[in-house]
Amino acid sequence: MADQNTQIKSEAAKYTTEKVVYAKGLEGVILCDTQVSFVDGLAGKLYYRGIPIQQLAENSTYEETAYLLLFGKLPQRNELEDFKAQLKANRAVTPEILEIIQKFPKDTHPMEALRSIVSLLGMYDKVDSLNTPEANIKIAIKLMAQFPSAVAAFERFRQGKDYVAPEDNLDHSANFLHMFRGPIPSDLDAKAMDACLILHADHEMNVSTLSCRVVISSLSDMYSAVCAGVGSLKGPLHGGANEEVMKTLEEIGTLENTEKWVKDALAKHVRVPGFGHRVYKYYDPRAAILKNFSEKYAQIKKETYEKLQMAELIEKIMIETLGESKGIYPNVDLYSGLIYSTMDIPRDQFTPIFAIARVAGWCAQILEQLQDNRIYRPRCHYTGALDLPYIPIDKR
Ligand code: CMC
Repeated sequence: MADQNTQIKSEAAKYTTEKVVYAKGLEGVILCDTQVSFVDGLAGKLYYRGIPIQQLAENSTYEETAYLLLFGKLPQRNELEDFKAQLKANRAVTPEILEIIQKFPKDTHPMEALRSIVSLLGMYDKVDSLNTPEANIKIAIKLMAQFPSAVAAFERFRQGKDYVAPEDNLDHSANFLHMFRGPIPSDLDAKAMDACLILHADHEMNVSTLSCRVVISSLSDMYSAVCAGVGSLKGPLHGGANEEVMKTLEEIGTLENTEKWVKDALAKHVRVPGFGHRVYKYYDPRAAILKNFSEKYAQIKKETYEKLQMAELIEKIMIETLGESKGIYPNVDLYSGLIYSTMDIPRDQFTPIFAIARVAGWCAQILEQLQDNRIYRPRCHYTGALDLPYIPIDKR
């Protein structure tokens, strides 16, 4: 990095007046002030609006946590009831959009479907052009309400089943499972899904949130910004890692194969999904809570028990090998997939569930960006030639 900085100063100083900093992957760069969430990577702590994540996972609900992220405080009882009523009022997918989802290719990845649905929601919503704080709050609530319903609708259609209408008596997470799978979910499934959604609801300046903030910084609109978030979350280095973890466990197959697989992967410098983080250099607190839920499910499903044993062995070897030396510990994605697959959720729907949760954080951060906006416009380190002559086409 020192060499790069020296070179940049000499090259870039000729062409720029601003102070130039080079940080590949924006490592260590502070982009903005925020009061939404904070990651203490060395201590392995995560806070939403100052409240430790463990307290929210234990005591809160997704709706209450979303309110907290969006409005900056825990709601009074009447405020929460009103917020829940607004979410419920926005749950049903409109007939026009259902008709279009029905025509989506059945083999498209559900994240592609979701990204397209967000675009459609924007196209059909005339409020989006207003871009006022009041209109944007309405859009945020609509997006939070529509994400689970839209993910469920695509799942039903690709399985050749009918759309399940939302059930007003069910809370956010339970209603999602109902619309996705059909039956009313068990208390354990509803509670585990709610905890998963709380834990994934925000995470400071991750790449999908950055994408949302960058898009809204041009004063575009909420839907466009959230579309960028979905696209960014899809990648295997970010939200897509939960799917990769399950693929890996399935590929390894048995507990007996696990140790050799991890050691081979490390020898080949393969990045083991579900491990490592730019900010956490210690155990991701979300992973610890999700591991507890996986343990509950392992008691009721043999396949989950076997996969949990494998995941725990991978964790042990990874921490022994890379914990101290490189700060590589389990991240949130290591155990979430085990929970979802116990709930009979297909692997390629894990990242859409991440999005169902994260849309709350995206919206909160987009609204915060708009309160004190400055367009994002960094520079590149140009490494090409300069002042080359233009050669006419027949002389090249
Ligand atoms: N397995 C093995 N080695 C790893 C891993 C891993 N999962 N992650 C990082 N390393 C090594 C990496 O090879 C590098 O070693 P060296 O210094 O010898 O080159 C060192 O640790 C530092 O890695 P880095 O490239 O500086 O890390 P980064 O901050 O650029 O990337 C990451 C962070 C999350 C993309 C990366 O850890 C990774 O690819 N993990 C696997 C994918 C994953 O689980 N992603 C989910 C992240 S958490 C949820 C979310 O935000 O979506």
